[in-house]
Amino acid sequence: MQKPKKVQNAVIAIRNRISHLPTPEVGIVLGTGLGGLADAVEVQATVPYAEIPDFPRSTVQSHAGQFLFGTLGGVQVVMQQGRNHLYEGYGPDDACMGVRCMAELGIHTFIVTNAAGCLNPQWDAGDLMVITDHINFTGRTPLAGENHDAWGPRFPDMSQAYDPALVRLALQQADALGVRLERGVYVGVTGPQMETPAETRMFKRLGADAVGMSTVMEVIAARHMSLRVLGFSCLTNKNLPDCMEEAPLEVVIAQANKSGGNLARLIAAVVAEMRA
Ligand code: HPA
Repeated sequence: MQKPKKVQNAVIAIRNRISHLPTPEVGIVLGTGLGGLADAVEVQATVPYAEIPDFPRSTVQSHAGQFLFGTLGGVQVVMQQGRNHLYEGYGPDDACMGVRCMAELGIHTFIVTNAAGCLNPQWDAGDLMVITDHINFTGRTPLAGENHDAWGPRFPDMSQAYDPALVRLALQQADALGVRLERGVYVGVTGPQMETPAETRMFKRLGADAVGMSTVMEVIAARHMSLRVLGFSCLTNKNLPDCMEEAPLEVVIAQANKSGGNLARLIAAVVAEMRA
């Protein structure tokens, strides 16, 4: 498990930069190509990861690499523009550093977004999915090692990792906005290689609707720290075992950019409603 001191040092450095701001209520991670939501924020401060001691820097070019503080729909938020993935060579601790810092800063709700391959034959690239559950297929966990009791219990419950009331709220808001929103299970893999047809078939049989290379480490850490979690996948490519198509990064980013606008509108509406 992450050393609490490392997170506390990072949080001290962040707090020094935002001491004039109210405590953030909601933390949001922007996935690949989903940066558009940042444009909806009334920005009050940005804190580059490079200026935070021991904060891992993302090696992914499509990610900006900073925390952004501001208001969204009247709610005080902090956004992570860029995250750390296992496929970059980071361990689970570094993959969770952002959410642990946001939890220490005071958020009560964590909204995670990602780009993912679509395993459900009835859906299409471009569809949005609210995550109702996940399968951690990475073989890793951020909770191995000595437990830090102040953060959470040794054996945290995962029976409702994704908050059912927030899922309902997201579906209601999607309906009100006329945005199609599927609901499904996300399977998290390490990557960076994409899936073979046999792996794709297996994930479908295991009950997954979407596959991606992020999210599960962060959600485990978030639940360990008792945050409410809401997750969205932007389904960027159809990943079907009997008609596999290549999905290079450009396609993933382009598709995420296309549907990212709707996801941004939806998250803004959900956050605004959290206040109500
Ligand atoms: N597989 C894994 N990760 C992904 C995919 C995929 O097909 N698309 C976007 N991220």
